[in-house]
Amino acid sequence: MWARFLFLSCVIFLVRADSYELKFVQLVTRHGARVPLTPLPNKDAGTVWNCPETVLLHHDMTGDSSLPLDRIHRVSYIRDRTTFAGNCTVGALTATGCKQHQQLGTQFRQRYVNNGFLPSSFDPSLVYVRSTDVPRTKESLQCNLGTFFPTVQPRRNGGLPVIDIHMMESSAETLLAQSSHCPKISYLLSQTHSSKAWQDYHATLTQLRARLCDISGIPDSAFPGYTVYTDGVACRLADGLPMPKGMTPADYELLSEVQVRELEMEWGSDEMVTLALGLGAGEIVTNFDEKLKGRLGYKLMFYSAHDSTVAPLQFAFGIWRHNFPDFATSIALELYTNATGDAFVRTVYSGREIVPDPCPSPMCPYDIWRRYVTRIVPADYQKACQLPTARLQPEGAAPASQTKVASSLLETA
Ligand SMILES: *[C@@H]1O[C@H](CO)[C@@H](O)[C@H](O)[C@H]1NC(C)=O
Ligand SMILES: *[C@@H]1O[C@H](CO)[C@@H](O)[C@H](O)[C@H]1NC(C)=O
Repeated sequence: MWARFLFLSCVIFLVRADSYELKFVQLVTRHGARVPLTPLPNKDAGTVWNCPETVLLHHDMTGDSSLPLDRIHRVSYIRDRTTFAGNCTVGALTATGCKQHQQLGTQFRQRYVNNGFLPSSFDPSLVYVRSTDVPRTKESLQCNLGTFFPTVQPRRNGGLPVIDIHMMESSAETLLAQSSHCPKISYLLSQTHSSKAWQDYHATLTQLRARLCDISGIPDSAFPGYTVYTDGVACRLADGLPMPKGMTPADYELLSEVQVRELEMEWGSDEMVTLALGLGAGEIVTNFDEKLKGRLGYKLMFYSAHDSTVAPLQFAFGIWRHNFPDFATSIALELYTNATGDAFVRTVYSGREIVPDPCPSPMCPYDIWRRYVTRIVPADYQKACQLPTARLQPEGAAPASQTKVASSLLETA
């Protein structure tokens, strides 16, 4: 009897001691399914793309929370004058892509609104939304918010409610790996591509390469790289379109493996992660610090971005599990405190709890998480991005590197 009582009180005590309070959430997502960025050889293998209109963006400088509009204008691309057959522009979000983010928004609502953490309507003093200045990420965010927050507060003037999507000019964007900001990125990519490990690996792929050239009816010299095929097929399959003629699911499986291997070799080092997303990861750490110091009012900050955001963050946060971030992948970083005020970070990757490499358990002590992530936050980004001085460059190396180097992650700006 007593034993049972003691046991029960222990259980209750443990539950109490373990009770964590959710304080703050940061979300990073990849946009939904889209049109490829580069057509497959020979007129994109005959595919016709369909981009129904998703969302209209209105550019406004007044800062009002609602606008008394009497009309809006629509961008209407001229048929048959676009890169791809159909009515889509390069990289545009498709109807499927919007739907993926609507589903994700519904999940976010279940997770963060239905439990009372956030109010039912969008409140700009509690929820901050940011996107890269790229149509598909802005549209993905709008599709997401449409289900995450079907209604908007406050609503004054009786006009159309306006939600600010915070953005940076692409020349200063910290949410995207961009070699145009940071010449060292192209330099390191070139070094990787000329390494023995890279060349040995690619020597094992000559059959696949010959097969792809054969299917496309192109000579080897015109081979556009594996990523163009992987992305081309991923976009088709996401939108329910058939594989390019001649390609099999086995080809795609192999291409997906190649993509992950290339990504690890190109982007997996701490130095590369620092150059790719060190500043963005630093902003995320700073938000946590500010929240814990009581200097940040937001309860949720939402970043709408790309594969070249999510993949480097997988390395940065110690949650790389050899998986390429699919369309509408999400990373949720949840900040909790326990009864004595100690802080913890819980990481959820596309709806699944994941234990980051440095962490002893899903509720990761904030100090451990922070120390690990700040390893890739540069003290001086400009300096980190500088090319090695000329005399350190390998002899005969091309002056590295104003030119963009193709890689397993697609650059967008
Ligand atoms: C809160 O977490 C800290 C660090 O893990 C721990 O030492 C402390 O006992 C916890 N507080 C409670 C009330 O469990
Ligand atoms: C885009 O094209 C498809 C078919 O080609 C058509 O069904 C759809 O209505 C078009 N959408 C717009 C917005 O023109």
